[in-house]
Amino acid sequence: MCAKNIDWSNLGFGYMKTDWRYVANYKDGKWDEGTLSEDGTITMSECAGVLQYAQTCFEGLKAYTTKDGKIVCFRPDLNAQRMIDSCERLKMPTFPEERFIEAVRKVVDANREWVPPYGSGASLYLRPFMFGINSVIGVKPATEYQFRIFATPVGPYFKGGVKPLTVRISDFDRAAPHGTGHVKAGLNYAMSLYAIVDAHEQGFDENIYPDSATRTYIEETGGANIIFVTKDGTVVTPKSDTILPSITRRSLMYVAEHILGMKVEERKVRVDELSDFVECGLCGTAAVISPVGKIVDHGKEIVYGMDDMGPVTKKLYDALRGIQLGTMEAPEGWILEI
Ligand code: PLP
Ligand code: COI
Repeated sequence: MCAKNIDWSNLGFGYMKTDWRYVANYKDGKWDEGTLSEDGTITMSECAGVLQYAQTCFEGLKAYTTKDGKIVCFRPDLNAQRMIDSCERLKMPTFPEERFIEAVRKVVDANREWVPPYGSGASLYLRPFMFGINSVIGVKPATEYQFRIFATPVGPYFKGGVKPLTVRISDFDRAAPHGTGHVKAGLNYAMSLYAIVDAHEQGFDENIYPDSATRTYIEETGGANIIFVTKDGTVVTPKSDTILPSITRRSLMYVAEHILGMKVEERKVRVDELSDFVECGLCGTAAVISPVGKIVDHGKEIVYGMDDMGPVTKKLYDALRGIQLGTMEAPEGWILEI
């Protein structure tokens, strides 16, 4: 295990080529048996569907070393299911759940030396993705696809670790009603690049997108869902058909209600009630739970505290990490041991 000579505790969120990735190809209406490959490059037609019309979707999950030295993944079945939803929305063939989980197992097992040690704060990020690979020039779905999973060791998504973030309410839109905001399409991220670069240039860590139809309700950020805490300790998360159903957020809401005995609400959250909350955090596989210290809404500052994670956010964070790292009992079926 972790034989690699890496400074695990100082990793950022970046790509590092690891030894093995999983590759399967779809042709003539079926998937081949798939294989592990040492080749981290892809050769394809200049006219491939993914290159011309961005026909691609992806997932993100992590493998961890637990306190007692096991290697585990967190709820990969939900990533498999969400990828099926993404593929259906993008007119791509689906990759079956059992095969997805088997591919996750194979990639993690083959890259065991790349799984960061317990206590380092790092993890092995897995990136399943699929794309149209044959040439497509009229606007239509490809007929041939490739599914891959690569692995890369990562540290915190946001620079500075758990330092509270400063985010802004964005004037750019991420997802339209009846669009693709609820699936993990590459195109959602391509069109958020302008907004994220602009946010960084203006000194913000991320954008919070309000609903694009009315700009009245909070949706999510470019790469994470949002949770809020009310003065009486209720955990609130925005409900919307145009946000990605974050596995981290769904897990946190379950943990808050059923393990920590907190009150939880999934409901529409108005932009003008942000100052009623006392804590805010961004949650996702990459983000884990990143505390938000300040939201700037067109010059109006809503400050939750720039020193630390709030107490309720911290409880949620500790519980989630405890479950993932094996120091707290996980609900049935949440942990896949590799
Ligand atoms: N929202 C967006 C737009 C994301 O890209 C992600 C990352 O996957 C999330 C939310 C968090 O989802 P999850 O907790 O399943 O990683
Ligand atoms: C993840 O959390 O896995 C994501 O895909 C988010 C991405 C912005 C890195």
